[in-house]
Amino acid sequence: VAAGLIPVICVATLGTTGTCAYDDIESLASICEEKSVWLHVDAAYAGGAFALEECSELRRGLERVDSLNFNLHKFMLVNFDCAAMWLRDANKVIDSFNVDRIYLKHKHEGQTQIPDFRHWQIPLGRRFRALKVWITFRTLGAEGLRAHIRKHISLAGQFEDLVKADERFELIAPRALGLVCFRAKGDNEITSQLLQRLMDRKKIYMV
Ligand SMILES: Cc1ncc(COP(=O)(O)O)c(C=O)c1O
Repeated sequence: VAAGLIPVICVATLGTTGTCAYDDIESLASICEEKSVWLHVDAAYAGGAFALEECSELRRGLERVDSLNFNLHKFMLVNFDCAAMWLRDANKVIDSFNVDRIYLKHKHEGQTQIPDFRHWQIPLGRRFRALKVWITFRTLGAEGLRAHIRKHISLAGQFEDLVKADERFELIAPRALGLVCFRAKGDNEITSQLLQRLMDRKKIYMV
């Protein structure tokens, strides 16, 4: 701003890829509201956990953001790929990406119950991903999905305890949801070799 540039969007992250760290949405929202900057939240991984009451703290400030996305193919058991996007005011996106062509006309146009998703994105067509979301939700139910996420978090807690109890290892960031970041104490080469050996065994996948 001081350099005369006009910021248009701020992309915050709830659950970063490396350590599942969280941006302070309340602070960012105050600045974005003051400067009329679009505030988007990338909750690709952590978003699924927003469904848990015990994780309500993670949702703090979300009522002030303009858009949010999360991946159902992460915590929510939907087959790859499936990302959901929430918009406070979808009209802003629809006005930008509107595609009106005579060959796309149909009798339900303009009815809010039947959104025309061709106006919501840059590509015109899209796959019917909603079907697998519907099937997953109907099969497991909200409680089934919550139980799945809770189980992952609890398994990560157990693994965290094992790491803490073993003096050969150390945590490099606080455990967050299902993510435990740890290393072997000493030279980084030890950690690299351990990772390589685990990968070669092909029993588990680690990064
Ligand atoms: C924080 C974060 N954002 C975005 C992505 C990627 O999301 P997508 O595959 O939907 O682009 C990931 C990981 O896959 C992630 O951890």
